[in-house]
Amino acid sequence: MAETRGAQPAISGARAEVVELRVNGIRHSVHTSPERSLLSVLREDLDLTGAKYGCGEGQCGACTVLVDGQPVRSCITRVSAVARKKITTIEGLAKNGRLHPVQEAFLEVDVMQCGYCTPGMILSAVALLKKHPHPSDEEIERSMEGNVCRCGTYPRIRAALRIAAQKMELLSKEGGHAAGT
Ligand code: FES
Ligand code: FES
Repeated sequence: MAETRGAQPAISGARAEVVELRVNGIRHSVHTSPERSLLSVLREDLDLTGAKYGCGEGQCGACTVLVDGQPVRSCITRVSAVARKKITTIEGLAKNGRLHPVQEAFLEVDVMQCGYCTPGMILSAVALLKKHPHPSDEEIERSMEGNVCRCGTYPRIRAALRIAAQKMELLSKEGGHAAGT
């Protein structure tokens, strides 16, 4: 399935070109300056507003998306650098009408206060649990330290990750939604 979005003027004098993106399983041909940030293209061209603008400097994690399964700060990632790679945003995490186990766990623990950090937190957590299905508290701290929650929900985030790890283990035994990002 391919969608074409266009007519985006060049920015900062850079010449516009067509950048092929694969976001949440859908191919998009975006006419844009290759210098624009992935975050800007996701939000402004593709109407995927789950990834948030926080610091704009790669420091807060609010803009985190997955690129080929790895957490990436989309605010400092040039859109041309991720052409044809597999991009997953929070909008693409649910599968077959079911939320990802990390999303379920965040809801069960009632992690969110303002929710601004949540999409980035969840995607970082998905990447962590894929790499370390049973992370220690230290691994959780280290892996999530680049995601800032101004509301201070860190204890609930840690609790949600532990629940998500159990859910994912159960699902992988059942052959279900196994965090296929
Ligand atoms: S907005 Fe991208 S890291 Fe803060
Ligand atoms: S819930 Fe408000 S910034 Fe994290």
